[in-house]
Amino acid sequence: MALAQFEQLQQYLDSQVVGQRGLTSNILIALLADGHLLVEGPPGLAKTRAVNALADGIEADFHRVQFTPDLLPADLTGTDIYRPETGEFVFQSGPLFHNLVLADEINRAPAKVQSALLEAMAERQITVGNKTYPLSDLFLVMATQNPLEQEGTYPLPEAQLDRFLMHVEITYPDAESELEILRLTRNEAKHVNASVPQRITQQDLFAARQAILNLHLAPALENYIVQLIMATRQPEKYAAELGATIEFGASPRATISLERCARAHAWLMGRDFVGPDDIQAVFHNVMRHRIILSYEAQADGKTANQTLDLILNAVAVP
Ligand SMILES: Nc1ncnc2c1ncn2[C@@H]1O[C@H](COP(=O)(O)OP(=O)(O)OP(=O)(O)O)[C@@H](O)[C@H]1O
Ligand SMILES: [Mg+2]
Repeated sequence: MALAQFEQLQQYLDSQVVGQRGLTSNILIALLADGHLLVEGPPGLAKTRAVNALADGIEADFHRVQFTPDLLPADLTGTDIYRPETGEFVFQSGPLFHNLVLADEINRAPAKVQSALLEAMAERQITVGNKTYPLSDLFLVMATQNPLEQEGTYPLPEAQLDRFLMHVEITYPDAESELEILRLTRNEAKHVNASVPQRITQQDLFAARQAILNLHLAPALENYIVQLIMATRQPEKYAAELGATIEFGASPRATISLERCARAHAWLMGRDFVGPDDIQAVFHNVMRHRIILSYEAQADGKTANQTLDLILNAVAVP
């Protein structure tokens, strides 16, 4: 049974990444909704560990790229290499041709490199010279960004951020989890390793994605999704207090992403239909990086999260 496999994977991720359910469950949603994740949080919160654990649990290869100021687009995409033996150029594929790609500290590389990544994420293909190469069918990028250091970093292009299906924020674990982490990593150092579940095949993953697309979504709920998006574009029509807060609303990519994440959420809950609570559960993570607050709202110290709360309150639930 497909769902049981993913429940096991969720358990495995939670056993490896303690007390970060917000991260592990959204990794699964991204996997099932066929999208990419932007994860923001302080260093040392098991982001690398989480992707490693995911690579243990599914049939996929994994590659990590550390973004640095001297990284070049070709370091991600690959490049044509001259072979003197034959006198020909041969394409040497880069890290983006792997299934799971951890793009670490994405805001340490300049715009050109970020754009190469974001473009590949959206197009699922790479053009080098005059040839185009398709990326893997299973292609998930988890990019990390550190909110602490602003100096010497390059902010991501806001207009391209919506290529990420979700923007997940993570914070420090609580005391109870911290204690568990201590014991877990001590055991690992003693080579007492957790049992790894049987790997989910790509075929099973793709079948699950199809099942998710077939879940029932009532027309009233389709309309609810659309209204939530409209409220980011013409907020004053939905609530007076939203009036001047949003400079740019969400694109149709947001609409599509909201539906797909809500579907994956419903499926993981074991339901065969999507409910309003599935849409609400994924709303903040899907929308956070897709709205741009007005200058006044930012000056007032308003945040995207607060604004999204107001939108959820303002739009009538069917
Ligand atoms: N929630 C957690 N569960 C299990 N181990 C954890 C957790 N949080 C941190 N650790 C441990 O802390 C260390 C750092 O984890 P990891 O390297 O995955 O963090 P990171 O978020 O990738 O860090 P960085 O931002 O520096 O790249 C590892 O030894 C890891 O085992
Ligand atoms: Mg790391």
